[in-house]
Amino acid sequence: MKRLTLVLVAAAALFLSHAQAQRVNLLCSPDLAWCEALGPAFTEATGIPLEFIRVSSQDALARIRAESANPVFDVWFGGTGDPHLIAMRDGVAEMYIPSTWDDIIPELKSVINEEYIPLYAGAIGFVINEEALGDLPLPRSWRDLTDPMYRGLIAMPDPTSSGTAYTTLATLLQVFGEEDGWELVEGIHMNVAQYTSSGSAPGQLAGRGEVAIAIQFMHDGVKFAAQGFPLTVFAPEEGVGYEIGGISLIANAPNRDAAIAFIEWALTPEAQAIAGELGDSYQIQSNMNTVQHPLAPNFDEINLIEYDFDRWGDPAVRDQVLTRWLNDVFAIPR
Ligand code: G6P
Repeated sequence: MKRLTLVLVAAAALFLSHAQAQRVNLLCSPDLAWCEALGPAFTEATGIPLEFIRVSSQDALARIRAESANPVFDVWFGGTGDPHLIAMRDGVAEMYIPSTWDDIIPELKSVINEEYIPLYAGAIGFVINEEALGDLPLPRSWRDLTDPMYRGLIAMPDPTSSGTAYTTLATLLQVFGEEDGWELVEGIHMNVAQYTSSGSAPGQLAGRGEVAIAIQFMHDGVKFAAQGFPLTVFAPEEGVGYEIGGISLIANAPNRDAAIAFIEWALTPEAQAIAGELGDSYQIQSNMNTVQHPLAPNFDEINLIEYDFDRWGDPAVRDQVLTRWLNDVFAIPR
């Protein structure tokens, strides 16, 4: 009897651990429609249920760090790459080499020194509602954005929550150097009407004419323009930084096998095509066999800077930048 009980308990434990393994808890950082479409498509392909919450990149990193002793999430899908790199270097995410590794666009892997899995790429730029600009000239450069005539007309995301905004700060500090760069960030701050918590929200404000100028990823602006908003999208003349969005396995993920199944699926050309098919996200997808959406950016036509992923993905650099922005820029009344 005792032996039977033990066997039953062992079987129940096995069943429980198996059942628990058969789900994915996803932290999802791209725009909502893409996040929402992942679960049904993944479950249809694998039978494994998936639940997600949408959290901006910097907030996602904060969450993974805070929960690292007892992780709740299995996979972090999308969001800008710098915080993925930081999560790897902190040891709160774990490098997993997917079976599609050789199909990932080589440049996307090499510029990040193969430290995390590239999921997509996109470049920062200006998204402008020319009607809302009225008689004002179109700003063409980063420096133009500091002109007082644009006071109250700019929206950009908040770098403490949004990876898009962190990529923007890193861009300015790389294009202009530390000293001039921070001066420029301050000059732009004086003209900002609103800092949004998510990266793509500024384009919605510009689309509705609540501001005239949004600073964000160009592919987000292209999406809003395709939806019918009167928006012009381009890269400022001094050049722009870019993201290599990541997909990362959370260290000590509670559902590790299901997490790996999800990462494998998410990197297939079929899964990657979902973003564009939905009309939600037009990044360059990382698998070279994915049919890229016609509205995806062409990096050969954009004045990209040589973004130093190693430096901006350094946890100490991130802390310094965010602290300085909060204390010395955001604190300035405008
Ligand atoms: C949008 C973009 C993504 C980017 C993400 C970052 O969804 O389409 O390419 O990775 O923003 O979000 P965040 O809210 O962290 O700026």
